[in-house]
Amino acid sequence: MKRIGVLTSGGDAPGMNACIRAIVRCGAKEKLEVIGVRRGYGGLLEGEFVKLGPRSVANIIHRGGTFLETARCEEMKTAGGVKKAVQALYQEGIDGLITIGGDGTFRGATALAKAGEIQVIGIPGTIDNDVYGTDYAIGFDTAINTALDAIDKIRDTAGSLQRPFFIEVMGKDRGFIALDVGIAGGAEDILIPEIETKIEELCLSMSRNFKRGKKSSIVIVAEGDDAGGVFRVAQQVWQRLRLEYRICVLGHIQRGGSPTARDRILASKLGAAAVDALVSGKSGYMVGELKGEIVLTPLNETWEKRKELDTSLLQLVKILAA
Ligand code: F6P
Repeated sequence: MKRIGVLTSGGDAPGMNACIRAIVRCGAKEKLEVIGVRRGYGGLLEGEFVKLGPRSVANIIHRGGTFLETARCEEMKTAGGVKKAVQALYQEGIDGLITIGGDGTFRGATALAKAGEIQVIGIPGTIDNDVYGTDYAIGFDTAINTALDAIDKIRDTAGSLQRPFFIEVMGKDRGFIALDVGIAGGAEDILIPEIETKIEELCLSMSRNFKRGKKSSIVIVAEGDDAGGVFRVAQQVWQRLRLEYRICVLGHIQRGGSPTARDRILASKLGAAAVDALVSGKSGYMVGELKGEIVLTPLNETWEKRKELDTSLLQLVKILAA
């Protein structure tokens, strides 16, 4: 193996830059040439390659986003797109490719690994943390801390004006972000896609809290919740309880910002592990971390299998909201 490529694909996540840095510098240690692919699979199909050396990744460990840029690429979902991607890699003389991203990225990576003779290794990087085969994906820790910071600020004003707040967090169709920020932010109620939302139950919980003497409350709503989004939830509660409320959608703020120490460390470890995997001849795996150990999971399992969320923690939320 002489030349490896690296790309970031799908939604950017804080820590992706730290991961690219680790790949480039561990690659240099192994005397590999490292080629950056701009704009994810989109750039791969267009042949957007850039040579990376240890100095090209200086002063990026603390930066959010991804300096290679990223994209969501429809063409890569087609057999023709995958064929074109393999050709582009052959033409550039790339023998191994590291893809950093979430489930969409790994669907493409699985197809690439099957289609050609290029070794492919994935690294989980998504704030949603919904990838099977790793306890944490790069970016999740930063995202929950960013959301938490916002929720703490909202709590100040919620308490001062004695209002309920409905706060929407990201997470696509999963509730990993909502559950963690809800617990850490001391939320009274958390609505996640994994559990059917019953508005009557939410109203009961909210009025019980007010009867207990609480003057404000924080309801975290995951964007993928089945009740139809934060505006619909708040409106339905209003129709029943007639409580003046405010809504805050945290949105893309959760995707940006300087990565936390945890994300930088995870990114560095997984970047190094991915280079090791390529050097030792592995292909078709994602490197992840489970219970502190680096674990390789077949790429197809990362999106075919469902990562479990510990919904029993919602019981704790109820107790702590007393
Ligand atoms: O997958 C990361 C994520 O931020 C999700 O939480 C969210 O649903 C989605 O991407 C938003 O995508 P876009 O940036 O394309 O609007």
